[in-house]
Amino acid sequence: MEIIIQETRQAAADVAARLIAKLITDKPGAVLGLATGSTPLPLYQRLIGMELDWSKITTFNLDEYIGLPRDHPQTYHTFMWENLFNHVNIDAKNIHLPDGNAADIPAFCMEYEERIKTAGGIDLQVLGIGTDGHIGFNEPTSSLASRTRIKTLTEQTCKDNARFFGSGEEVPNHVITMGIGTIMEARTNLLLAFGESKATAIAEAVEGPVTSINPASVLQMHPTVKVCIDAPAASKLQRKDYFRWVYDNKPDWQRI
Ligand code: PGA
Repeated sequence: MEIIIQETRQAAADVAARLIAKLITDKPGAVLGLATGSTPLPLYQRLIGMELDWSKITTFNLDEYIGLPRDHPQTYHTFMWENLFNHVNIDAKNIHLPDGNAADIPAFCMEYEERIKTAGGIDLQVLGIGTDGHIGFNEPTSSLASRTRIKTLTEQTCKDNARFFGSGEEVPNHVITMGIGTIMEARTNLLLAFGESKATAIAEAVEGPVTSINPASVLQMHPTVKVCIDAPAASKLQRKDYFRWVYDNKPDWQRI
């Protein structure tokens, strides 16, 4: 794992944006795994400003609520169009999001896995992290070998996400999510986390044991993971000075 600590969330998101921009430039037909939530917003804003060529890029999103109408303001479908896809020259036929209204959700999940394989696998997967360590919507105790499937959210995640919904509006507690096994097959994983509320989850994921209690900790077993975080999210890392030193002293050829 490469831990990249920047003072502000925008600076950390900028490192992530440069990494993705390099991939898009080097490999115009790259396959990106994308995430939603508040975390990737500064990343997507920066990517939009870079005016990259998305015409051959394929995307797969991590997760989606089950049962919300597709055009509901809080579906991840709506989120992705509003915050990224409407602002870049991506071809709509190359965009893949889990369908939370599929008639047969288990069959859809299997098909989603097939679509990822057919596309050649995910080159780079963007990840946020929940306060409980979830990646995608793989909540604590998710199988570390899991594939795309239905999950039930924890009460804490429903509470964390309630801020996006209107008062009195119910937060769906069932979702489709790529599995941890699916995420582990991405060639690169790029985990972003901002703010003190993520500090414990990050410390456990990076410096704790590999355990399904903190699903992000499985990334310790992945060969190519970049963790781009701001100083508050890094505040509980015991080795934060070492991580800063490593990044600040990178040889030029390794710089992002
Ligand atoms: P957030 O959610 O980006 O809105 O904090 C992250 C997550 O739940 O994975």
